[in-house]
Formats: sequence, structure tokens, C-alpha cells
Amino acid sequence: MVDITRRTFVISSLGLVGAGLLPRFVLASNGKAMAGSPPWAFPPQSTTALAPREQLLLDFGWQFAFGNGDDPSKDFNFGFNQSDFSKTGTFKIATAQFDAGNWRKLNLPHDWAVELPFVHDDKGDEDNRMTSHGYKPLGRRYPATSVGWYRRAFTLPQSDRGRRIWIEFDGAMRDIMLFVNGCYIGRHDDGYTSFRFDLTDFLNYGDENVIAIRVDASFGDGWFYEGAGIYRHVWLTKTDPVHLGKWESVVRPTVQGDAAALDLATVVENEHEYPVNASLEWTIVDATGRTVAQATSAAQAIAPKASMDYHASANIQHPVLWSPDEPNLYTAQVKVLVDGSVRDGEHIPFGVRTARFDPDHGFFLNGKPLKIQGTCNHQDHAGVGAALPDRLQAFRIAVLQSMGCNAVRTSHNMPTPEWVQACDRMGMLMMCETRQMSSNPSGMEQLETMVKRYRNSPSIIIWSIGNEEWKLQKGDMAPQGKRIATAMVERCHELDPTRVVSAAVNGDNEQGVSDALDIIGFNYHTDFPDDFHKKHPTRAVFGSETSSAISTRGEYTSDKSKNTVNSYDGVVDWGQTPEQWWTFYGTREWLAGGFAWTGFDYRGEPTPYGWPSISSQFGIVDTCGFPKDYFYYYKAWWRKEPSLHVFPHWNWHGKEGQDISVWVYTNLDEVELLLNGKSLGSKKVPHLGHVEWKVAYAPGVIEARGLRGGQTVLVEKRETTGPAQKIRLTADRRQITADGQDLAIITAEALDDHGRLVPTADNKLAFRISGKGQLIGVGNGNPNCLESDKEPKRSLFNGLAQVIIQATDDAGQVLIEAVEDGATTQPLRPASLAITTKKPATKAPRVA
Ligand code: GAL
Repeated sequence: MVDITRRTFVISSLGLVGAGLLPRFVLASNGKAMAGSPPWAFPPQSTTALAPREQLLLDFGWQFAFGNGDDPSKDFNFGFNQSDFSKTGTFKIATAQFDAGNWRKLNLPHDWAVELPFVHDDKGDEDNRMTSHGYKPLGRRYPATSVGWYRRAFTLPQSDRGRRIWIEFDGAMRDIMLFVNGCYIGRHDDGYTSFRFDLTDFLNYGDENVIAIRVDASFGDGWFYEGAGIYRHVWLTKTDPVHLGKWESVVRPTVQGDAAALDLATVVENEHEYPVNASLEWTIVDATGRTVAQATSAAQAIAPKASMDYHASANIQHPVLWSPDEPNLYTAQVKVLVDGSVRDGEHIPFGVRTARFDPDHGFFLNGKPLKIQGTCNHQDHAGVGAALPDRLQAFRIAVLQSMGCNAVRTSHNMPTPEWVQACDRMGMLMMCETRQMSSNPSGMEQLETMVKRYRNSPSIIIWSIGNEEWKLQKGDMAPQGKRIATAMVERCHELDPTRVVSAAVNGDNEQGVSDALDIIGFNYHTDFPDDFHKKHPTRAVFGSETSSAISTRGEYTSDKSKNTVNSYDGVVDWGQTPEQWWTFYGTREWLAGGFAWTGFDYRGEPTPYGWPSISSQFGIVDTCGFPKDYFYYYKAWWRKEPSLHVFPHWNWHGKEGQDISVWVYTNLDEVELLLNGKSLGSKKVPHLGHVEWKVAYAPGVIEARGLRGGQTVLVEKRETTGPAQKIRLTADRRQITADGQDLAIITAEALDDHGRLVPTADNKLAFRISGKGQLIGVGNGNPNCLESDKEPKRSLFNGLAQVIIQATDDAGQVLIEAVEDGATTQPLRPASLAITTKKPATKAPRVA
């Protein structure tokens, strides 16, 4: 912890990574050095297999080709005749005879939408325009780019005969149809839930197998960018015929004095033709691998093709609790034994913590009050769209934590497993939301899959059954709303009696779905909560969605002709600035806090402008994670350490003598502002507010001095820079893992001759990547940039761009070189950066 009485910190304006504003991942969110492995070094959560179960990553070595949503002759003749599904074994695309020689080779996760060119198309009604897709040509009017086929062959050893073999998808966008060895296997429609198919009967053992998957993104699930394709991991899982039920293993800790009582439960399935006697062994280990508790479940006879429930209990003495500051995890290992031999097993990470919502005092974690300082987030990122490598999940959480965000809402869908896993490991609370609010079979299936899959995650404190269901909240359909919500809430309680259930309601919460909810979430409308609290004093309340402030990073005027929004007070008419909503939610003890819309900018919903804006401007950080000025409002009031941020930049050539608004976000008591060394006076900082001046522009240095108790604690300067002269490249990490998945996230900047970031630079850069890595995406956070996300080129936007580099499987070095693209006279001086890729100690097992 910084001793603020003794030190003065000068924060330069020399760029973001350089100034420590983007995470380097050497510190935990609480500022402590990370003990043990850093969070990104863990294997993916989904590889929970314990031998003899095998769970093999099936991400590598696919082939891809566009089909067609309209014309069967362009869709590999799928649907050309009546008989695609008529006979088992005859589906040609999924056979070795099919010639896929000219299909493109790629690895998953893959989002083909982000690779498509932007199309200016504003046709459609209010809720159904191309704006939702961020102007990517998806939907029934774009049949040539809305259907994709994935194909892959693999060989199974003879020894797999007799095992159960599953293909498991963490999620795919959308409407997938699966064929294996000529046989139709099944389909799955929504774009967010995990799903799987049992392939056992269809496979060739000791021989080759061919999988073909048709993915049809003609329809969507939401109103925001959703991507297209197999954008999450795929696994091939092999088990004994006696195996654990999928997502049936539950560890439910209850804190009792200085111990945690664990209720352990699971289901064992017997797929043999004969009965078996199966018992269970449970071993609970702490983060160092030390066994802290053990339990057994006695043998039970399981009839052929039947399943059986198992229970056990155990105690952890002196448990270390899970919290955002100390995200301590335990792992339960559960093994299924038949006649003394282990048939199946899995690891279940969990945490010990208590969580409670109180109508008078807000949210309590481990018995202590904790305001939810949350953000809502969609799941796309610059350069990669919806197909985020695991490492980006941790990167994004670290960005949010660096402004003091302690909770995320997975608006508006079941999240990617590695996002949940990163929240568990890095100490981020979560409101976990399902996509479809409905008690119809698919709505209930989506909800059940989400709750079953994630109910052991300590980060999750609220299940959300939906968002802004206008029809079901109020009016004629309110009775249906209540019935639908009641069914959903009851199902959540059955599957997980430990967590509260809510919904994001844009309305007064007086009827419809709200009647069924455990805790009440308000979207916007700060005029409702006070009255609601008076009328319903026993119901806990939080802000399920707030703010919707808008701003363009590094821009200080709202200019319709350029689609920019000023960074001081931009907000939509239903929204509030960070200061407005947080002075409401942050000052009422009974409110549990809230979730600002949004942490990151996202593609689609290009509010407040349309074309050529292709992404939203709601983010507190842009699509790359570069902070906007609003970020520092939150940093000042959400984090504890002293913080000071002065803006705008001080490059206003041509505006000499004109008034410029200068704002300071700080949690210190008082700020003195100086221009070129001359004091412009001091101002007291209002609690949860900011201070501002009008300053007649003169080039030089604008300096803010932050004081506490009369002592200067922090100083921040913005200097008028010279023209951009050179490129600088910095990486979040200089050493990454050579596992074909890990990333180095590179910031490219333009500096002047004194090494100062030029905050208005828009030079176009070109990148050359050589050695043991490849470029998987570029971005710059400009909501109006129509450049490709995949080309090794990118313009800087207000001085910054991002390059995402992925390691290959070979250890060595990746060299990233950046030059100015196409400059004829005096190009920026180039830069290069080497990243080391290191052989991993263990690698997630893969399908060969
Ligand atoms: C909300 C909605 C979000 C987003 C936001 C923009 O009403 O829940 O998905 O559209 O508005 O302000």
C-alpha cells in the first residue's frame, strides 16, 4: 500500500502501458504480487478431466468454406434435393470421399463475421438493422456470408472401442447441424449455450473419422454484435461407460464458525448393458495441492442404462475465503470407482465465501458490506470479434479491475467458460445472465445449462433470467411475465438454492416478472428506486444496468460530421454520466451498487450515430481496452489508492487564447491547476464529483497537483507535444507460452522527439511478424474505423493501436516490426519488439 503522506507521484502523459495504465499482470487486483501461477497460466476450466477420462481440445486443424443460405448449389448441394436427412450414412460432405481441397485451413475459436468487409446497409426496422451486427453482412439478406461449413478428420485408436465419446461445444453462433461419417447427428440453435453430442455409435475405431458442421448465422439471438461461427472451444471427450453426469457435480460450502461444511453431490450414469456397483471418492485440495478434506459416497447398484444420485459431506478447517481481494480457490476431485478401479473423474474448482443481499444495507460478501462496482459487458474484442482466445478474457478483466470494477454482468447471454473461470481466478464478481427469457423448452434449457455449468463458481453472486422484457414487465402480458419468471426462478432455486435470482428490468418493477424475483434490478430510471424502497422495504435493490454514458476516446467535442462524442459529459437521453449514476447508487446504503453500461465498447449498436460508426461508444474503455477519460472517474471513486487524472490533452494548435475546458478526476481533497508554471487557483473536490476550469489555451504544460491534508500527493501533466516522429511498441508480457493459444497484446504508439505520446496522431502503421507467432487481429478503438481487423496494418487512433499476437506451438521468439505505411516523406522511425515464447510445462491435450 502506498504511504500517501510521504511520497509524491508524478504520472507522465507518456502513453498508457508506459504510464502503467494498462495491466502488465505482475500484480493482483489488490496490488499484491500474485502468489504461485499467474491467472492466465492455468489450463482452461473445461479441461477438468481426471484419468481415465480424456478431454481433448478439438480447436486445431479445421477446414472452412462459406456455404449459402439461399442457393443449394452454392451450399455444397445441401438441400438441393429432398433427401439430405433421408438415409443414415450418406451425407457426402462428412465422408472421406468429399473433396475439400480448396477449403481454407484455420483453428478455432473462429468468428467469420469479423473477417467480412463492412457494408453500409441501414435497411430494416428499428430493432433489426445491420447496425446490430456492426454493419457486417449477416442475415437472410446476405446468404453468401451467413452460412459457414467446418470440416475436420481425425483418427481414433482401436483402444477407444467401448468408451463413450462425445463432441462438446462451449458455444457456436448459430443454428449448427452436425454430421459425422456421413451420418446426421443433431442440431443446436441458440448461439450461447454449451451443447454436446454422443458420437460413440457413429465412429470408426482404429480408423479415420470425418466431422462436418454447418453453421447458419442467418438468424440472431440479440441486438448487438454476436459474431458468426464456432467462436468458442470444441472438445472431444472420452469416458468409460460408467461416468459422471455432465455438470452434475456440485460442491456447496457453508461457512460454520471457523470451518466450511461441504455438501457434495453428483450423478453417476451407467451405460453398460449390466448393473454396476459404483462408489465415489472425494478429495478436496487447496491452491497448493495440499489435501484439506476427504469424503466417500458408499457403493450403490446402478441398473443398466440408468443413473444414480450420490451425496457426501466434508469439512475444511480454517478455510481461506474467496473474495475479490483474495480469490482463493479450492478444487474438489471426484472419482468414480467400480470394484476398486477408477472409471471416471473430474476436478471442480470452487471457493468458500458467503454472499447476502440485505434490503437495508446492500450486499455483503463474507459478512462485510461490499458495494457492487460493476460493468455490463458483451463478449467481443478488437481484432478478433467474438472469438476470444482465453488469454484475452484475463486481459479484459485486468483492465476493468484497474479502474476498480469488482463485478461484471454477462449481458445478455450465457458467458464463455473462460470468462467465468478468469473471474473466479482473478476475483471478479459476476451477475450471470441467460439469453432467452422464457419458460418454453429452449428458454428453460438455456437457463439450466448455464446454472448447471457455472453453479460452483464463487464469482457468481446473481443469476439473471433476462433483460428488458418490455412485454412481460408491465401491461397486458404482465400475468404471463409473472408465470414465466416464476418458472425460471423456481428452476434456478432447484438447481442452486444458494444464489439469488434477478432480472434487469427497465421499468418500475411493480408487476410482471418482478413479482417473482429474489432481488430487484433497475435498468436506468433513478426516479424509481427510492419510491420502490419505501413501498417494499423488505426487497433488496441494485442497479442492473446504469449509465449508458458515451464518449470517443481522446475526443473533446461532439461532432456529428465526424461521429465523435465529447469525453466530458456525453450521455444518451435515457442515461447518466458516471458521476450522475454513482452519486445516486454510491450514496444510498440500502442500494447494493450497480452495473454500468458498458465496461468495454462493443461492435454493433453504434449509438448515438449510425454509419460509419460500427461499434458502440458506451464503453468506459474502447474496444481494445484503452481507457477513455471516464475510466478515471471510476478509478478515483472505485479504487482506494490516490488517483488523479487531468484532461484533455494539450495539443490545441490554432486555438491559442480560446477557452478549453480542463477537468480533473481525483479522490484527493483539493486540486491546484497550473499553466506553464503559473497557478490558476485551487479547488476543493466534491465527494464523488470532479473539478473543472476554463483555461485560455497557450501551448506548454497544463499541470494538476492533487493535495490531501495540505500535502501534494500526486501531480499529473499534459504537455503540448511536437509532431509524431517515431513508433513505440510495448507488450503486456514479453514472455508467453508456446501453446498455439497464448497471446502478447501489443500497444503501438506515436511519440514525438522527446518521447511523448502524440495524442492526436493518426499515422497508418504496417506490421511484420516473424518467428514463432502470428498476428490474429488489430484494432485502434476508433468506433468509426472501417479498416480490416485482420490485415497487418492499422491507423493509430488518437495516438494508439493494438496488435494481438498469438504464439505458435514452437518455443522461440516472435519479432514484431512496425513501420509507417505509405509515408513518402519523413516516415515515423520504425520500432520492433521481441517476445519470447516458452515451452509450457503442461499443455491442454488435443486431438491429433
Ligand atoms: C439497454 C439495453 C442494452 C443496450 C443499452 C444501450 O436498454 O439493455 O442492451 O442496448 O440499452 O443504452
